[in-house]
Amino acid sequence: MRISQTSDLWWKNAIVYCLDPETFSDHDGDGCGDFGGLIQRVDYLAALGVTCVWLMPFYPSPDRDDGYDITDFYGVDPKLGTLGDVVEFIRSVKDRGMRVIADFVINHTSDQHPWFQEARKSLDNPYRDYYVWRKDTPPDTSKQVVFPGEQDSIWTKDEASGEWYLHRFAKHQPDLNIANPKVRDEIAKAMGVWLQLGLDGFRLDAVPFFLETEGQPNDGDAEPHEYLSALRRFINRREGGAIFLGEVNLPYKEQLKYFGVDGGELTMMFDFMAMQSMYLALARQDARPLAKVLSGRPPIHTDNQWAMFVRNHDELTLDKLSDDERAEVFAAFGADKDMQLYGRGLRRRLPSMLDGDPDRVRMVYSLLFSLPGTPTLFYGEEIGMGENLEQPGRSAVRTPMQWTDGRNAGFSDAPADRLIARLVEGEFGPDNVNAAKAMRDPNSLWHFMARLIQRYRACPELGWGRFEVLKQRATSVLLHSCNWQDSVMVLAHNFSPEEATVEGGLNLDSGHPKLPKDAVLLDLLGNRNVELSEDGSFSLDLEPYGYRWFRVWQPGDNRLR
Ligand code: NOJ
Repeated sequence: MRISQTSDLWWKNAIVYCLDPETFSDHDGDGCGDFGGLIQRVDYLAALGVTCVWLMPFYPSPDRDDGYDITDFYGVDPKLGTLGDVVEFIRSVKDRGMRVIADFVINHTSDQHPWFQEARKSLDNPYRDYYVWRKDTPPDTSKQVVFPGEQDSIWTKDEASGEWYLHRFAKHQPDLNIANPKVRDEIAKAMGVWLQLGLDGFRLDAVPFFLETEGQPNDGDAEPHEYLSALRRFINRREGGAIFLGEVNLPYKEQLKYFGVDGGELTMMFDFMAMQSMYLALARQDARPLAKVLSGRPPIHTDNQWAMFVRNHDELTLDKLSDDERAEVFAAFGADKDMQLYGRGLRRRLPSMLDGDPDRVRMVYSLLFSLPGTPTLFYGEEIGMGENLEQPGRSAVRTPMQWTDGRNAGFSDAPADRLIARLVEGEFGPDNVNAAKAMRDPNSLWHFMARLIQRYRACPELGWGRFEVLKQRATSVLLHSCNWQDSVMVLAHNFSPEEATVEGGLNLDSGHPKLPKDAVLLDLLGNRNVELSEDGSFSLDLEPYGYRWFRVWQPGDNRLR
């Protein structure tokens, strides 16, 4: 392994920071965030230490699904700024050594997109086949809808032409027909433009949905995975280091298909399985559900990676848990019906779910950074923002970033009633939780997060290494190791409010039959090294919700300690 590979495959140990330009920072004072505001916050992101910014959709949109309903793949929504502003932003980010990726939605457009407006004009319109139509009355598809309660079918009749169009999401989001070569060309062309302007890749929305072409026109030539791999080859011809970070909420076995042969389709995928089992483990104060899921995670190609996350902009989906397990998580973290969404998730952020317990919150973020994969943060997590349940649906967690305790949380100078979204109120609102305060306090969550980020960046074992759950008897503890080249890390997390003692041991392989006398577990987050026996066994204590990171250190090891 050449060390340069760690920069070639930059995504393997990146720290991704997701933000919505609408709610991050408002420069022109109209109450909506914009790229002018974002540019002013680039140094904040650099100071935190994240290495890749993920922009939620910024394309022109009627905004009926927070920008995931696009009317022009080449444009910038005027309320967010101009193309020039986006390029300025990308340049500023790159100047600070970070990268930028952006959401891209292939599955559908807005019904206001000129293609759809054309398509519905007549059956022989040249854009008709850009979308998916059926002539006969569709069967009951109420079980297949993604937003139950907001949608009752995945087909809607277009009265003008008398046919039904497919929409896996809301009816104002008609599905594109990616089996149509013209649509494929349009998508590639648009991606090419953004790569040319400096993007480092895309977060691909709803991947399994757009790859589903069965029964669609032209499906004869449309092997979906071949399409995804062709698109990936295209972006890498244009830009060698460009990535696809895909949203594929499926069990591991099914997810694997989306990495493709030799890792040639999606570069990264969110690890929804680990995320959901982590919440079950938190609810039970028992690490075993997470240990079990992680132990069953299949190996992936070196070029691929899992993206780990605690929260994102959608509901905290728990759809892969059993009904009883989901009920346990609901009871622990969102018993109020109003906190639940679509029967499968919670519209809350982590600190409020954990009643603001700082030790528990920190344990979860330590865990996030220590799990094998690339940690992905959602804006505001670094300061411990909560949600506003007065906001409709998923917008509860999409409130304006809290910069100060001043007017509109320092987000905007507009009159309060013109803000794009309501601020969080109460305990997690800007009076108590804001970036300015957090940055001044060396003991704040922000500084803790910045330290984790710094540590993570100096521990390639975590992104690159071989992961293993280590056996031990404390059920509340996840003990794991990551081995990379000659280096071994040991990480311990206590899910319980009780102290725990861990009697563990390294799995010494034939290369390391015995450890030298003075080997220790070097404490990477504090100053409490732990003795290591020659056979690799050790004993360590964890505080309530304690977390510890170690690296095996042997005499003669001259790395920074
Ligand atoms: C997944 C996105 O995360 C979500 O916010 C959006 O509503 C749907 N895809 C539809 O684009």
